[in-house]
Amino acid sequence: MDRIRVGVLGATGNVGQQFVGMLVDHPWFELTALAASERSVGKRYCDVAKWRAERELPSEVGEEVVLPVDPGKVDADLVFSALPADLALKVEAEFADAGFVVASNARSYRMFDDVPLMIPEVNPEHLGLLEVQQDTRGWDGCIVTNPNCSTIIMVTTLAALRGFGLESVQVATMQALSGAGYEGVASMAILDNVLVHIPMEEEKMETETLKLLGEFDGERVIDAEISVSASCHRVAVMDGHTEALWVKMRDDPTPEEVREAFHGFDADLHDLPSEPERVIIVRDEEDRPQPRLDRNAGGGMSVSVGRIREGIRYIAMGHNTIRGAAGASVLNAELLHKKGIL
Ligand SMILES: NC(=O)c1ccc[n+]([C@@H]2O[C@H](COP(=O)([O-])OP(=O)(O)OC[C@H]3O[C@@H](n4cnc5c(N)ncnc54)[C@H](OP(=O)(O)O)[C@@H]3O)[C@@H](O)[C@H]2O)c1
Repeated sequence: MDRIRVGVLGATGNVGQQFVGMLVDHPWFELTALAASERSVGKRYCDVAKWRAERELPSEVGEEVVLPVDPGKVDADLVFSALPADLALKVEAEFADAGFVVASNARSYRMFDDVPLMIPEVNPEHLGLLEVQQDTRGWDGCIVTNPNCSTIIMVTTLAALRGFGLESVQVATMQALSGAGYEGVASMAILDNVLVHIPMEEEKMETETLKLLGEFDGERVIDAEISVSASCHRVAVMDGHTEALWVKMRDDPTPEEVREAFHGFDADLHDLPSEPERVIIVRDEEDRPQPRLDRNAGGGMSVSVGRIREGIRYIAMGHNTIRGAAGASVLNAELLHKKGIL
């Protein structure tokens, strides 16, 4: 299999660093370009990235010179985007138009009718939208997106429960600081505190979920008919979003049946390199999952669940910058490659 040359747009940020960490030794992808803002362009990556990913920054990557986010300057077949949303709207279209495959974390294109919003274990058939997208927009490349970090953790668990007939979901989140980006939340605001509003987060959870669990009819995705109500909060945890969920289902399953559905959930992706051994890990201890103990399960790609009670109520937890961001995009790109789209 030929190696695919990949670049990272927004490589110096929180999510960009996780991309770099996941791509340096990737069996299919070769990291050929690191791009960021004018503040970083022309400087060595190790001098401008405030490195905090799980693994050490390899010295050969640290010596790389940062490029501008310009399709003419980036030598790659695919770019992973970890750009701020307002910028991503313009830049991702320029890259797709120039023939690049863009795997994006930003919210900018997630809800467009012709753009796949993907979790490979949940809705791989939505990749069919790429044909519609290229016909509509006349791009040689394309854009595929992954959901918001809180949404992906919740929807992965809901996908395991689809067979019981999902009717309504209520969720309260406790979200990590890294979800706000490096400069995101002032220490004076978050220490000894809980922030009870995260701009646009509740709307994203309530709308993206319907598209992700919707049906692709060959031309478009028809939203799932589920009611979703979210309340989102920022807490002083470095990485790992925790969510308390209440789920109503037509078949009214018992907690034991729900536990079995989580435990048995297997996406059958046939060995994508970043696919965790278990998509969902059931924690039976009464005080799990917890971010510090469970966020790195499955290399940060597994979602942990626990405290499954009558109702049905449970807790879900996952690594927001890996499963909720960089890892989600890398898994999308692996699926594209496996399907021959790259
Ligand atoms: N953090 C999460 O858990 C998470 C989860 C899912 C999705 N996302 C999304 O992923 C994206 C990145 O989030 P983040 O948390 O990694 O943010 P971040 O830490 O603030 O990083 C932003 C990145 O974008 C670059 N950038 C900023 N302005 C730019 C400009 N004008 N031109 C070119 N590059 C520019 C920055 O480069 P410089 O260093 O040079 O300024 C940096 O590399 C956002 O769209 C976010 O909503 C984040």
